[in-house]
Amino acid sequence: MSAFLLTGGRVIDPATGRDETADVLIRDGVITGIGKRLDTKGAETIDVAGAVVSPGFVDLHTHVREPGREDEETIASASAAAAAGGFTAICAMPNTDPVADSAAVVEKVWALGREAGLVEVMVAGALSKNLEGKKMADIGEMVRSFARVRLFTDDGHGVQDALFVRRTMEYLVAFDAIYAEHCEDAALAEGGQMHEGERSAALGLRGIPAEAEELMAVRDLALAKLTGCRLHLLHISTAGTVELVRRAKAEGVTVTAEATPHHFSLTDDALGDYDPNAKVNPPLRTEEDRAAIVAGLADGTIDAIATDHAPHADHEKDQELLYAPPGMIGLETALGLGITNLVEPGHLGLPVLIDRMATAPARILGLAGQGSLVEGGPANVTVFDPAAKWIVDPTTMHSKSRNTPVLGTELHGKVVHVFFRGTHTVTDGRVASEALV
Ligand code: DOR
Repeated sequence: MSAFLLTGGRVIDPATGRDETADVLIRDGVITGIGKRLDTKGAETIDVAGAVVSPGFVDLHTHVREPGREDEETIASASAAAAAGGFTAICAMPNTDPVADSAAVVEKVWALGREAGLVEVMVAGALSKNLEGKKMADIGEMVRSFARVRLFTDDGHGVQDALFVRRTMEYLVAFDAIYAEHCEDAALAEGGQMHEGERSAALGLRGIPAEAEELMAVRDLALAKLTGCRLHLLHISTAGTVELVRRAKAEGVTVTAEATPHHFSLTDDALGDYDPNAKVNPPLRTEEDRAAIVAGLADGTIDAIATDHAPHADHEKDQELLYAPPGMIGLETALGLGITNLVEPGHLGLPVLIDRMATAPARILGLAGQGSLVEGGPANVTVFDPAAKWIVDPTTMHSKSRNTPVLGTELHGKVVHVFFRGTHTVTDGRVASEALV
């Protein structure tokens, strides 16, 4: 039995349009009241005046690395990092070892997520066996497993064979499941270390052209239209892809898209000193692309912000760019980057940021009880101080990896409290100690 009364915060819920100063009462895992003059008997009062009370964030794109690379991240450590970042749900990507392409593996990941107990761990299944893009994974089995998989992707690789895409989309329609693509034409991207442009030419590095992403987006949008399958475009990074999604939505194609905090915050300038932590797939692009991502998030062309949290071991990142694996961590910096680079410059307001980080991703995944603050619903709640300034400090992060180029930078906006199904998982910015690994 537990009860908490959050008093005096700005309660923002994009799902209902609520944006007002109100108290929130959480009792035994459920939001039992939002407003004033609530029945607060026995509740622990937490003063959150000056802070925002929001639905817990939902990350559509987290690399948990378990099974296989538990030295880089585990489901427990990813859950702790997620809670610290204000998330109450994450979607675990299938590029583990073994790959999550069968009921056995997705159920294992799902069970470990339940055991960690800090966030809801949804599991994404692979589209193809071993992410090879050739033989379909055990999709029906994964849908019907305890993990109830709804989103399928070969993330980390684009699926190269158009016929495979068509057949898989046709199959997914029967389950109302989502085909999620990492748009990258392998031949065009071959050997690329960063975005192909003036910067890559100046640095003498082989680039990945914007067209490597856009050609695959064109193909998948056409096939989604043909098959009626729900398509989700992962981590879109170019102005051209934003425009393709905008046009496809206007035509009624069932497509959603996500963008990462690093693609709305950074450009290929970050590779200037050959920093391996700035190497990511798709690559950081130009200022024009970054601005298009921001505009797409503001007008809703891009539905969701997703971290693409991709932990890598120091010994692998700390080598020449050519040999360093792509990816950066992002769960603990997503809110700060959103407030610092989207809200403070005036590109979008806090309610829209919360929609992109909580309400829209919950809707895409069909997650009941996430992404909204409703009386009678599960208490998945994040409280953050939008004005708090902090430095990204590698010594206080919860992920097992530290690969991000934003270490040492100042961000604005900090998570103060998180409640996951009513359990106080983050208190005054600290993850519940019994949950730490
Ligand atoms: O940079 C990336 N790293 N992009 C991906 O799509 C995969 C990810 C990883 O798994 O490291």
